[in-house]
Amino acid sequence: MTAPSAGGDATTSKAVTYKDKSKPTDVRTSNINAAKAVCDAIRTSLGPRGMDKMIQTANGEVTITNDGATILKQMNVIHPAAKMLVELSRAQDVEAGDGTTSVVVIAGALLDAAEKLLQRGIHPTAISESFQRAAALAVDILTKISMPIEITNRELLIKCASTSLNSKVVSQHSSLLGPLAVEAVLTIVEPGHEQACNLSDIKVIKQLGGTVEDTELIEGIVFPQKSANVSGPKRIEKAKIVLHLSPKTDMDHNVVISDYAAMDRVLKEERTYILNIVQKSILRDAVSDLALHFLDKIKCMVIKDIEREDVEFAAVPIASLDHFVAENLVTADLVEEVGVGGGRMVKVTGAQSAGRTVTLLVRGSNKLVLEEADRSLHDALCVIRCLVRKRALIAGGGAPEIEPPSRNTLEGIDAICTRAYANALEIIPFTLAENAGLNPIQTVTELRNRHAKGETSAGINVRKGAITDILEENVIQPLLVSTFALTFATETVRSILKIDDIINTIT
Ligand SMILES: Nc1ncnc2c1ncn2[C@@H]1O[C@H](COP(=O)(O)OP(=O)(O)OP(=O)(O)O)[C@@H](O)[C@H]1O
Ligand SMILES: [Mg+2]
Repeated sequence: MTAPSAGGDATTSKAVTYKDKSKPTDVRTSNINAAKAVCDAIRTSLGPRGMDKMIQTANGEVTITNDGATILKQMNVIHPAAKMLVELSRAQDVEAGDGTTSVVVIAGALLDAAEKLLQRGIHPTAISESFQRAAALAVDILTKISMPIEITNRELLIKCASTSLNSKVVSQHSSLLGPLAVEAVLTIVEPGHEQACNLSDIKVIKQLGGTVEDTELIEGIVFPQKSANVSGPKRIEKAKIVLHLSPKTDMDHNVVISDYAAMDRVLKEERTYILNIVQKSILRDAVSDLALHFLDKIKCMVIKDIEREDVEFAAVPIASLDHFVAENLVTADLVEEVGVGGGRMVKVTGAQSAGRTVTLLVRGSNKLVLEEADRSLHDALCVIRCLVRKRALIAGGGAPEIEPPSRNTLEGIDAICTRAYANALEIIPFTLAENAGLNPIQTVTELRNRHAKGETSAGINVRKGAITDILEENVIQPLLVSTFALTFATETVRSILKIDDIINTIT
């Protein structure tokens, strides 16, 4: 039995040149179908009643997550168009942090709409351009219905963080994690430089042991290792800290000792040399046992192997002993080695130079929960960052996606494509209803009616299983998350539509 030859095969392409006209359509359909398959795979994870995924990697590691970007990153996607959706989710994760499932679900629905428009004989370029205009229109509408927020309004910020946490595996801890995320971001925001708000100023440390409830925020820095001392101090108040970055040399030194007198001399010299250094500073990699012994004696705590990214948090780094002067010393109210979970770590609080450094110490009873708590906290931190950058929020629960775009000014193909675009966005309320066990068609129809009557905050109340004013349920989300999702999804769909051939350079 012979299988029909594939159109894209290099060896057979010459023989089937007459089919060339249908090739762009075939390639487009294949791309759309591959991308839609990815969307279908993660659709069930959307919303507070969405399901979680258990992902097993080739080396046997297991991850349980609800985060769209994480699911897609771990999926073994082969088709190039499907890979574009993985990238789409990653882009949303970088820019907005939240909405990584929604963005892919929206892209899937837009591709489905585009496929139907293509079948009606509309040219891909026309669809692509109309979609871009429709996206701009939708962003305008969302901006119009958004509400301003003051970043001093902690209560509202906490509600936003909780909305994003509510759809996670660790949702039952949202009342603890939400306020922590808000506090952490507000500590690092410098008034007047809100746009520069950088989440890498928040150090997140994961420590097994305890439960997620034990997660705490420390106004200072925590080093996840114990001090290197043997019998040195474990707690220093009003500590002076110096950070020594010793340049590493890869040279080996050989000292040839020919008699006992010489050996004596070498030992004596080493002793005075080390003593001299110890009196002045702490060495990063070069803390020998002898040096530690002296450091213990002079009651100096040593923390070795500091991560590169912690260097700027910790103190003023000095590279040579010449810079070991008073102004390079940082004072901290308290440096203490404490036992957390199964390990020990050093907490530095009240450091005068650390400025706006905070540490989130995430706890969890097992690795799976701990990792997911960390990912969920990241989403909540990103949500607050979005609100700091653009102080506007909108109602959630499918409300923004159903808001009808004004189509009056459009006509012809543009009107058809814009309508198709608007209808495609209804996938979000549809899926939210479906995942919550409601009748999706009935729910979406009612939601549409309520919005047509001007109730812009009517949304799907998954708790009551009905359409209610979703603002009363405190389901609110940043405007930026939704507008990024729309813009990014549209961009990806447009690029997929414009591809008419896949050229394989792999031989
Ligand atoms: N309590 C709620 N009631 C109704 N809808 C909600 C509620 N909480 C969240 N939602 C909606 O759920 C959607 C978000 O779901 P979810 O957090 O699972 O996905 P995501 O934010 O797109 O992706 P991810 O969080 O994985 O990055 C949003 O449309 C939001 O409006
Ligand atoms: Mg979310």
